[in-house]
Amino acid sequence: MVSSFNRSMSGHFGRRGSSLGSPKVVGHKKSWISPSFHVLVVIGSLVSFILAIGCGYHFVFPSLSQALHGHRISKFVNSTGSCDVFKGRWVRDDGYPLYNGSGCPFLERGFNCLANGRKDRDYLRWRWKPNNCDIPRFNVQDVLERLRGKRVVFVGDSMSRTQWESLICLLMSGVEDKKSIYEVNRNKITKRIRFLGVRFSSFNFTVEYFRSVFLVQNGLGPKNGPKRVKSTLKLDKLVGISKEWIDSDVLIFNTGHWWTPGKLFEMYLQMNLNYELMMDTAKHSGYRGCYFQVGRSLKLGMSTTTAFRTAVDTWASWVETMVNTNRTRVFFRTFEPSHWSDRNRRFCKVTRNPMSVTRGRDQSPFSDIISKVVKNMTVPATVLHVTSMSAFRSDAHVGTWSDTPSVPDCSHWCLPGVPDVWNEIVFSHLLANNGLPLQ
Ligand SMILES: *[C@@H]1O[C@H](CO)[C@@H](O)[C@H](O)[C@H]1NC(C)=O
Ligand SMILES: *[C@@H]1O[C@H](CO)[C@@H](O)[C@H](O)[C@H]1NC(C)=O
Ligand SMILES: *[C@@H]1O[C@H](CO)[C@@H](O)[C@H](O)[C@H]1NC(C)=O
Ligand SMILES: *[C@@H]1O[C@H](CO)[C@@H](O)[C@H](O)[C@H]1NC(C)=O
Ligand SMILES: *[C@@H]1O[C@H](CO)[C@@H](O)[C@H](O)[C@H]1NC(C)=O
Repeated sequence: MVSSFNRSMSGHFGRRGSSLGSPKVVGHKKSWISPSFHVLVVIGSLVSFILAIGCGYHFVFPSLSQALHGHRISKFVNSTGSCDVFKGRWVRDDGYPLYNGSGCPFLERGFNCLANGRKDRDYLRWRWKPNNCDIPRFNVQDVLERLRGKRVVFVGDSMSRTQWESLICLLMSGVEDKKSIYEVNRNKITKRIRFLGVRFSSFNFTVEYFRSVFLVQNGLGPKNGPKRVKSTLKLDKLVGISKEWIDSDVLIFNTGHWWTPGKLFEMYLQMNLNYELMMDTAKHSGYRGCYFQVGRSLKLGMSTTTAFRTAVDTWASWVETMVNTNRTRVFFRTFEPSHWSDRNRRFCKVTRNPMSVTRGRDQSPFSDIISKVVKNMTVPATVLHVTSMSAFRSDAHVGTWSDTPSVPDCSHWCLPGVPDVWNEIVFSHLLANNGLPLQ
């Protein structure tokens, strides 16, 4: 039973990559989870997670250590003072897109909507306009020069992989010798790969991606624990691989989509089980799966948001104690909104133009937690508040223009597209605050 269960789950993930929960799901969490059933069930993902950890992986890249003498980052600034770049609107701009996806081998097929047959192009032509300032256009040559000798690291789920791909494609558009850019292990991009590092050899820098969907450790639960506890998420311990992130110049995190019960529900829908019946069964028999753990104690009744908060706190202490923020600029991206039409995330309609209203998608409890935790940190870190700005972009998802057109996807974004703007914001921030001084 368990193994067929696992298979169906991983099979599902394999096909869809990380199909993701939506903020709507989060918003309706209370009606989704019975209070006595606060269980994070992510068996399939965890199996692959464990396997990935168990197998280990090898990578070599030069240590690009050098001191940065940037200023403490607290706000985005414009010429006269501060400006909240995350408050604004999308304006039509024919200067976009910033690169041609077909010319970028690091853009995975699943996100290349044009290559997958998308015909309308309006979605490519939007610029984000903050209310009180402008985001300077991404200046490829300038950024390439500034990155010389440095290491940019993305950590998180597939949304981080998207932003990683976006940055590489943005930068690659400014490099003539495309062959000088390569993945350090000559690996191909796949949905569950644990590490990818692309080296821009003529500029001596790397842009890396570490897959860590929870940021905290997953492993076997305590001995003598209840049988249904197959594994636990250790909310007070960052994953071991985090030591590889320390020695970087720009460090951009996300987590969130795997903390929703969405995948569980989807799996049950696949098995044609009635959701209420499933919850009822689970309540009475105890669901075999992954539970939360803090220290040595199991937290069988902990809610997903509390667990998320605990994990983000763990991340914050890790940054405070392990990362030299004199050198490393740390970012945490908030929840990336989805635009599903139903709560089971089976239907979605990608629109032609951005929505004029966000219909609640600009809010997420996870984003609120990230903002609160980062605000209280003792070292500088920056929240990339993408939730509300991206919430308008019902036109920018992959939809059926993915590598599996039969399964709509209103979680992931087309590239070129919205993640390019996230990168423009990161680099305008770094440049404006002299966070990436020339060597
Ligand atoms: C490349 O960058 C590293 C790390 O900053 C530095 O130690 C090395 O000297 C650089 N190599 C070249 C050829 O500039
Ligand atoms: C992108 O480049 C390809 C060739 O590499 C070309 O055929 C295509 O028209 C270009 N697309 C756009 C939108 O410029
Ligand atoms: C800079 O931001 C401040 C505060 O948001 C705003 O009042 C001012 O107009 C902005 N200046 C420019 C040049 O955009
Ligand atoms: C960071 O810079 C501050 C001020 O220049 C200094 O006091 C501190 O020791 C530095 N920390 C590290 C880890 O280098
Ligand atoms: C902020 O940090 C302090 C000390 O690290 C801690 O005692 C306090 O509970 C934190 N507050 C919040 C709202 O997280």
